[in-house]
Amino acid sequence: MLSEAAQSEIREIIQRYPVKRSAILPALWVAQRECGYLTEEAMRSVGKLLELNTTQVYEVATFYTMFHLKSPGKYVLQVCRTLPCALSGAFDILRHLKDRLEIDVGETTADGLFTLKTAECLASCGTAPMMLVNEDYYENLTLQKVDRVLKDLAEQGRCSLASGPFISPALNNPPHNGREAASNTLKE
Ligand code: FES
Repeated sequence: MLSEAAQSEIREIIQRYPVKRSAILPALWVAQRECGYLTEEAMRSVGKLLELNTTQVYEVATFYTMFHLKSPGKYVLQVCRTLPCALSGAFDILRHLKDRLEIDVGETTADGLFTLKTAECLASCGTAPMMLVNEDYYENLTLQKVDRVLKDLAEQGRCSLASGPFISPALNNPPHNGREAASNTLKE
């Protein structure tokens, strides 16, 4: 069950869309932020607010790699595997991560630190290969850079190789005017 605060945030988001179901992505984002991942209960709550059945919510939640259906590690590594990244070594990066972390795609390390996922194009093709770690981009990856990212995150909780975040700051506190949000983001 989502908290009253989360439900009211979703109700407020719904007001910005002509059709309730169009609010599903930001609504799921609120639910994930609240619960850490999309529990069945959270998806049911979102469905109720958006007047969608659970299957309709589930099919969206499973389509986007940014949504987690089980509790993720502290750092979620999403390696882009679309063509430009694939041609630039994404699968070597992925294999290296699997070896280093001793997990497969979709799994989390025993210490709960890293979850490994793959993603389709993350709009950073010019700096392939790349991966997203939580909200930060890591671009022009090499195996050495990957080692550094893992080490720094494990030891310091941050890594200076991050070139992100690329998630719009407006998502956390969106203004009512979408154009204003876009122009503010471009100015930053
Ligand atoms: Fe990897 Fe576009 S193909 S970011």
